[in-house]
Amino acid sequence: MSRLLLRDLAQLATPAGSPAPLRGDALDEVEVIEDAYVLCEDGRTVAAGRMRDLERLDGDVVELDGRGLSAVPGFVDCHTHACFAGDRLEEFSLRAGGATYEELHATGGGILSTVRTTRAASAEELETAVSRHRGWMLRAGTTTFEAKSGYGLDRETELAQLRAIEAAGGIPTWLGAHAVPPEFSDADTYLDFAIAEVLPEAARIATAADVFVENGAFDARQARRYLSACRDAGLSLRIHGDQFTEQGAVPLAIELDARSVDHLEVTGPEGVRALAASDVSAVLLPASALFLDRPMPPARALVDAGAAVALATDFNPGSAFCESLPLVCSLAATQLKLSPAEALAASTVNAAHVLGLGDRKGRIAPGYDADIVLLDAPDWRYLAYHLGHDHVSTILVGGRLAELP
Ligand code: NIG
Ligand code: FE
Repeated sequence: MSRLLLRDLAQLATPAGSPAPLRGDALDEVEVIEDAYVLCEDGRTVAAGRMRDLERLDGDVVELDGRGLSAVPGFVDCHTHACFAGDRLEEFSLRAGGATYEELHATGGGILSTVRTTRAASAEELETAVSRHRGWMLRAGTTTFEAKSGYGLDRETELAQLRAIEAAGGIPTWLGAHAVPPEFSDADTYLDFAIAEVLPEAARIATAADVFVENGAFDARQARRYLSACRDAGLSLRIHGDQFTEQGAVPLAIELDARSVDHLEVTGPEGVRALAASDVSAVLLPASALFLDRPMPPARALVDAGAAVALATDFNPGSAFCESLPLVCSLAATQLKLSPAEALAASTVNAAHVLGLGDRKGRIAPGYDADIVLLDAPDWRYLAYHLGHDHVSTILVGGRLAELP
């Protein structure tokens, strides 16, 4: 048995427990313990509480001094595009000069430019890229990450992406419907190919499927066809929706019982009401809205209406070159008007629910995986308050000290 005791922590902060995602007022109910300990055994948290209630421990225990540090659950990034080769620096410079993301996409840049560089990379190069990006995420406190394919859009590269994500310890999502690659004349012909030739093997590696519902990508009818086939193959469903225009992504997600709709920058009151009345999570990506200078999603309205809200980075080379969930929590507080407690719950336990891991990840509580981040801060809220700071001093993954890159 391996045991580790985090002792004399300035604070421990953990979201409330729930078998379902936290909604409404419950999202704000972070439990805070001053002068705290956490006891981990064989990869799990077995006890947490006040130092003065810590019982005598017999046998071998490794102790870690937590004085001056605040413990929060390891962050869960439930939406990234961490498997890509190359960069979009030229495009970034063009956008700085006034070009828009949609214009670059329409002229064969954007996503398709990363498709070209990713197709040209070997399987080993893709594995190296994901593990490098995983290191960046870990450095920022992310202990669980999802990552999507979608920069191959051919059989070999899509499957190589999914395998590279799996090899780096990520949770792979098949984003087979991210864009229509240039060798296909239209979206329907491409989907015929993707469903017949890629889905059977992709469904063996990935846990979910995703589609970009937008002008210039896929419409709701095409997305329904793709997602229905993916669901029949055993995948859970995600949708990139309402990023630039409302195209029916929200009703489609509800109709198909999808796990989430992600983005929602332009979702109106009807979409907010529909999501709040459903089991579909709203995944908000404020780093992407900031990076593209787009409107922020209606986070406050979604939380107040009772939707299951999660936060993620959307880490990718084009629309959100940002791997930091602490930064996303700062944006949640300053731009989305979520409290630090709501931001913490949305980027830990609610994000874990989007990945189907809500009973194991995202809380510091008995029975949960001992994935814990120690912040070099006297109060856990510094993680949102101290903008752009590197707060992370120590990380436990499965009860073991992680080596930070
Ligand atoms: O979530 N919107 C579509 N897909 C990604 C962007 C991918 C890219 O630009 O490379 C997103 O923002
Ligand atoms: Fe995305």
